[in-house]
Amino acid sequence: MEKVLVLDFGGYYAQQIARRIRENNVYSEIKPATAPLKEIRDGDYKGLIITGPDSFFGERVTAYQRSLFDLGIPVLGIGYGAQLIIEIFGGVLVEHEPTVGVSEMHVDALCPLFKGLPLKMSCALRHGGDITQIPIGFKISARADLCQVAAFENSQKSVFGMQFHPESSRTMSGGEMIRNFLYDVCGCTGEWTMKKFTRRCIDNLRAQIGDRRVLCALSGGVDSTVCAVLLHEAIGDNLTCIFVDHGLMRKDEPQQVVSLFRDKYDINLIAVDAADRFLDKLAGVSDPEQKRRIIGEEFIRVFEEQSEKIGKVDVLVQGTIYPDIVESGVGKNKLVKSHHNVGGLPDVIDFDEIVEPLRELFKDEVRRVGAELGLPDSVVRRQPFPGPGLAVRVIGEITRERLNILREADAVFREEVEKAELNTSVAQYFAIITDMQSVGVRNDARTYEYTVALRAVETSDFMTAEAAELPYSVLKKAALKIIAEVEGVNRVVYDITDKPPATIEWE
Ligand code: XMP
Repeated sequence: MEKVLVLDFGGYYAQQIARRIRENNVYSEIKPATAPLKEIRDGDYKGLIITGPDSFFGERVTAYQRSLFDLGIPVLGIGYGAQLIIEIFGGVLVEHEPTVGVSEMHVDALCPLFKGLPLKMSCALRHGGDITQIPIGFKISARADLCQVAAFENSQKSVFGMQFHPESSRTMSGGEMIRNFLYDVCGCTGEWTMKKFTRRCIDNLRAQIGDRRVLCALSGGVDSTVCAVLLHEAIGDNLTCIFVDHGLMRKDEPQQVVSLFRDKYDINLIAVDAADRFLDKLAGVSDPEQKRRIIGEEFIRVFEEQSEKIGKVDVLVQGTIYPDIVESGVGKNKLVKSHHNVGGLPDVIDFDEIVEPLRELFKDEVRRVGAELGLPDSVVRRQPFPGPGLAVRVIGEITRERLNILREADAVFREEVEKAELNTSVAQYFAIITDMQSVGVRNDARTYEYTVALRAVETSDFMTAEAAELPYSVLKKAALKIIAEVEGVNRVVYDITDKPPATIEWE
């Protein structure tokens, strides 16, 4: 299968670039810049995109980096990658204050990357270091107000550099530029589609598993649901799913999961109502990390008990997706929170083999596979929901009463966002119940009730996020409805903090 490599020297851009490639129906892989050259050569890639942190300035070119240009495949350097090209081919890069922002850009229509695109457009910039001279044999192919050498090329060598970020949604026609690189420069034909993936995946699973017994843990999220339905298509009744309701799901969610699996798909489902035991264990606990630990441990406990009943299974399914397995470049992600999902299960279940049907896919591709499989919109479009569920959205102690208040408020907010059709542009939107109570009036009487916070973020990788600028009218309507309909709330606030410095969840 044709594929393109994104070589990651650090920074935050690799996944976004790899996704843009996939959106153009070409399979992309991300490798850290520690990947041996032989591995890259043997990978038989049609093209290479080099990405890294915001500036190359101050680094020395390595032999490894030089060799990347002897692989005989087209190279596109983005940001750091563009500056690396300048250094390798003998241009001049000088130290410069970071340039960050959106700028107007004029492009050369003759450059293959800009073929068929407007000559004037906006581009997103984020780099330190300034290119003051391009190497001999290269020409400038785009200039921006904030960056004199926004793009350059040597078509003969098939080497291209972009100081701006074509993968950013703030660059106009960025996806088309990447498409031009893939199709016109690398000669790709666009073999990667979710329709083909789905068919191939089901056939492969059937061949790989045969008539062995398979167990799949469902979280209710899109990944595990798509996994289960793929497996069901492949092996039918030999699949058993387990769903643990920890009492921390959103309004009506457990019932929806059970009805989807039992009624629509007729999948063998063991649904465990474990709400009481989770809530009992959580009683009196306010510390976020302790909550997470308790939920993680209790999950394992429930599964241990279930797996004793089920006995040995042949194959365990994991909903691992591509971002989980990509080891991205340099110095990333210190632990901020101990994330919990169903990944810790292998230790407690007796099985021979793990299958991970989605390990090649990005989240948006998983959703498209879900659509191919005929899953309802509510599942395909389901926003990410943390493993510890509403526990991390109840600030302070978790009680049934406070959980119910949160569930109702959250349902109202989500409905308003969806009614305003903002759910496609906003990545995550939810309510939080704070531990703050304040004075209000209702029916001429004093109240002393909780403050609910609303949060909505825009993000593609969830590592950074911007607070969404929801229309005031939507916020106001949601707030009025929450106050009117949800007992126990007399104040609603909207969280306008980006990540960083905040995180998306409050705990
Ligand atoms: P934060 O709050 O770290 O969240 O900015 C980033 C994304 O991860 C989700 N999240 C979790 N997902 N288990 C999960 O599977 C967890 O423990 C967990 N905590 C946060 C969060 O909803 C957001 O999408």
